[in-house]
Amino acid sequence: MICLQRFSVFNLLCLIILLEAVLCQENAQTMRDKASLLSFREGIVSDPHRTLEDWNSWGVHVCNWSGIKCNKARDHVVELDLSGKALGGTISPSLANLSSLHILDLSSNFFEGRIPSELGSLSLLEQLSLSSNLLEGRIAAELGFLRKIVYLDLGSNRLTGEIPMPLFCNHSSSSLQYIDLSNNSLSGEIPLKDGCELKQLRFLLLWSNRLVGQVPAAMSNSSKLKWIDLESNMLSGELPSEIIQKLPKLQYLYLSYNRFMSHDGNTNLEPFFSSLVNASNFQELELAGNNLGGDLPPIIGNLSTNLVQLHLDANRIYGSIPPHISNLVNLTLLNLSSNLLNGTIPPKLCRMTMLERVFLSNNSLSGEIPSAFGDIPHLGLLDLSKNKLSGSIPDSFANLFQLRRLLLYENQLSGTIPPSLGKCINLEILDLSHNQISGVIPSEVAGLRSLKLYLNLSSNHLHGLLPMELSKMDMVLAVDLSSNNLSGTIPSQLGSCIALEYLNLSANSLEGSLPDSIGKLPYLQNLDVSSNQLNGEIPESLQESLTLKKLNFSFNNFSGNVSSNGAFSSLTIDSFLGNPGLCGSIKGMSHCRKKRTHHLAILSIILSLLITPIFCVFGYPLMHRSKFQRHQAVFDQEELGDDEEEGKKEHKYPRISYEQLIEATGGFSPSSLIGSGRFGHVYKGVLQDNSVIAVKVLDLKTDEEILGSFKRECRVLKRTRHRNLIRIITACSRPDFKALVLPLMSNGSLERHLYSNHGLSVRLNLIQLVSICSDVAEGLSYLHHHSPVRVVHCDLKPSNILLDEDMTALVTDFGIARLVKGDDGNVPTNDSASFSSADGLLCGSIGYIAPEYALGKTISTEGDVFSFGVLLLEIVTGRRPTDVLAHEGSTLHEWVKRQYPHRLDPIVQQALERCAASSMPKQYNKVWRDVVLELIELGLMCTQYTPSLRPNMQDIAYEIGRLKDYICNPSSFLIEEIDLKVEAP
Ligand SMILES: *[C@@H]1O[C@H](CO)[C@@H](O)[C@H](O)[C@H]1NC(C)=O
Ligand SMILES: *[C@@H]1O[C@H](CO)[C@@H](O)[C@H](O)[C@H]1NC(C)=O
Repeated sequence: MICLQRFSVFNLLCLIILLEAVLCQENAQTMRDKASLLSFREGIVSDPHRTLEDWNSWGVHVCNWSGIKCNKARDHVVELDLSGKALGGTISPSLANLSSLHILDLSSNFFEGRIPSELGSLSLLEQLSLSSNLLEGRIAAELGFLRKIVYLDLGSNRLTGEIPMPLFCNHSSSSLQYIDLSNNSLSGEIPLKDGCELKQLRFLLLWSNRLVGQVPAAMSNSSKLKWIDLESNMLSGELPSEIIQKLPKLQYLYLSYNRFMSHDGNTNLEPFFSSLVNASNFQELELAGNNLGGDLPPIIGNLSTNLVQLHLDANRIYGSIPPHISNLVNLTLLNLSSNLLNGTIPPKLCRMTMLERVFLSNNSLSGEIPSAFGDIPHLGLLDLSKNKLSGSIPDSFANLFQLRRLLLYENQLSGTIPPSLGKCINLEILDLSHNQISGVIPSEVAGLRSLKLYLNLSSNHLHGLLPMELSKMDMVLAVDLSSNNLSGTIPSQLGSCIALEYLNLSANSLEGSLPDSIGKLPYLQNLDVSSNQLNGEIPESLQESLTLKKLNFSFNNFSGNVSSNGAFSSLTIDSFLGNPGLCGSIKGMSHCRKKRTHHLAILSIILSLLITPIFCVFGYPLMHRSKFQRHQAVFDQEELGDDEEEGKKEHKYPRISYEQLIEATGGFSPSSLIGSGRFGHVYKGVLQDNSVIAVKVLDLKTDEEILGSFKRECRVLKRTRHRNLIRIITACSRPDFKALVLPLMSNGSLERHLYSNHGLSVRLNLIQLVSICSDVAEGLSYLHHHSPVRVVHCDLKPSNILLDEDMTALVTDFGIARLVKGDDGNVPTNDSASFSSADGLLCGSIGYIAPEYALGKTISTEGDVFSFGVLLLEIVTGRRPTDVLAHEGSTLHEWVKRQYPHRLDPIVQQALERCAASSMPKQYNKVWRDVVLELIELGLMCTQYTPSLRPNMQDIAYEIGRLKDYICNPSSFLIEEIDLKVEAP
């Protein structure tokens, strides 16, 4: 009774407060504002997050509605901010009745239709943000009447037509500080006529439109301009030197991909660079792709030493590189490629010790490569290809332990390959092809395990044997040693380069037989051994390969019988020319005389049919092949063979039987159960040869959808291999039992380490965590960009990241991954047709799903990037996204973003305490702090609302790779810093 009474008294109280709100506080103005807002809401057709649920016509004071702010007296609505709420619909003109509005932000939604011209009557409006929507049509001239406007952002829509003159050129628009109309389809000229003054303008962003004409002279009246981005338009005329000269505050100037000319009939760049000299805080200049003529004037060295990036590529700049450029000591990126530069590379260039990426390719540079390149400590990419450089490759590259890509192809380099290159332990690409390099391939270089993209030494004068060390390159995708004078035999150990897709050994003097192991390379697609002196029979393993598409055996001394089965079925005689000893059923080849192998073949088919019902099977990694050799069963083409073509081929896969799995797991006993998920259970097992496995058994009571997931997982696992992706041992499929057999990861999942309360798991320190992030990024980058079939993971989270005994992270659980059929090098992102069927299954887990998936957008790599960003923030903050959702009422990334950048200290401090290593020397504190901050920033970039703004996995992997180097070797960085300090006078 008492409870009931109390309850109703409380209720009554609430009601009174409410009534008061409704009756007393809302005056005529707020009632009008309310009516306008309700009318605006009518135009909204989708509101997936129910943001506008509290917009009621009665009950809640309008000033308390989501997205609304009122003035102090609570009698006017002054702010409407609904950015990033995934709203869809049109923008109602009724907003124009919110007569006191200062801020209107509807950016990052799905608004369509036109921008109502009525908004021009919002006479107090200071900020109008409608960017990243689907708005179309012309920009209404009435927006030029916004007298108080400071910030105008209409970027990334579908706006067309000319920019209305009043927008830029109206007595009232002088308050404008920020204009962003970029990434639309606007045409016509920049409407800034003489006499127009945008005196307060700091940012002018018009990139990616169809603007024509010259940069208007009146722009020089905007003397506070900091940031001008006119990239990717069709602007013409002389470079706007006279304007730039009057902009001393300029920091960023982007004019690339237009039709600008230099002065004096496109022959003189000096006036332009002179005009930039006064900008003392100038940081980035982009002039690429304009066909600009002239030489690089020495005055380039007088630009601000704050300059960080200089992009002058794809022009017609001639003459030599002035040594004065080396004054730009803060430069990290220099791109002069695809010009007409000649002369030598000035060694002084290497005094710019902050350089990270240097592109000088596709010019006519001559002389030697300065050995001083070895003095640029952070150099990660050096591209000097397609020049006329001569002399030998300097020994000093050995100092560049951050070097990832070294491209020196198509020059006239001679001498030998310095063995010291083997010290560049982070090298991913080494391309020295099309030079005159002689000598042998040094074993140190052949043993570069880090090479994961390609090694190209083709078209040189290399001689000697193929070094055995090549077999250590277990990540490299392509090796091209063609057109040299290499001799000796092809070592069978090349079979250990298990990631190889492309191998070209043609046009050498190799002899002996072609090893069987080459045909067993599980991902080899293209093999060329033509024009050597190889002999013997062509190994059967090649014919049996599931992956080989292109083969060339011509001009050798091969002999024996070649059938047109298997991988050879699509080959023509062209692949076998010039081998008089070959005969067989390839079209155009002479037939062999007798065959006696029929009986055996038939017998083996009968045998395999008999065994079918009892055993089950599949693909599995080469390395363990011998261990499983004695197990027998039959290949089930349905689960793992994804193309019919592959399925038709017969294969001798090693097998594990159902009975052996029962034995290994103690009859799937509860004591060997190590996990369960929505697919079923995971058991630990030990095979007879003591190898430890995880057996993922599908719960057959689950529905078709999950069965589909199981098949997809098989398919994805079979096609991918990378040291950071879990590798399948085998799969087992019978009508009543389906399981995947995977190697057991001794350190369990990342989740266990992040949230263990039991002291069972090791607490990870920051170095380990950065290394894990790097591993995961590499794995995903492989899936998105390098795997034979592109894959979107769809469900990245800590429980899907496993740690092996060395704490290397492996990404697992491809159950809902999507295969993307795009082999043109681009991952199709928006095209739903390019994804395999079976979309419709929810992609991802709560807290990690990209917001666009909630809107029914198709699965994309950007979605994985989002999940990866959440993962980074989770690792740094040590908070589960679901916990943050429960406690803060916002997603993890929104919560972190609210602290960014000024209130991050507590997060950073906690991270440092949580992840401190016992042995961390004090002086590294700053290094660790930097790393944590960068991880947070990267996490926020990856979780940006607009998918196209997120970085791609390849760039992320590169960045985290650098962080990893930094944190693992801070001493080398610190020593450099100290050195520099000592050197400074
Ligand atoms: C290089 O850049 C840093 C950071 O912007 C700045 O503090 C430093 O003064 C610059 N160095 C020179 C020589 O201008
Ligand atoms: C570079 O090219 C210019 C013509 O564009 C020529 O006059 C000059 O002699 C060349 N210099 C060298 C070092 O080849």
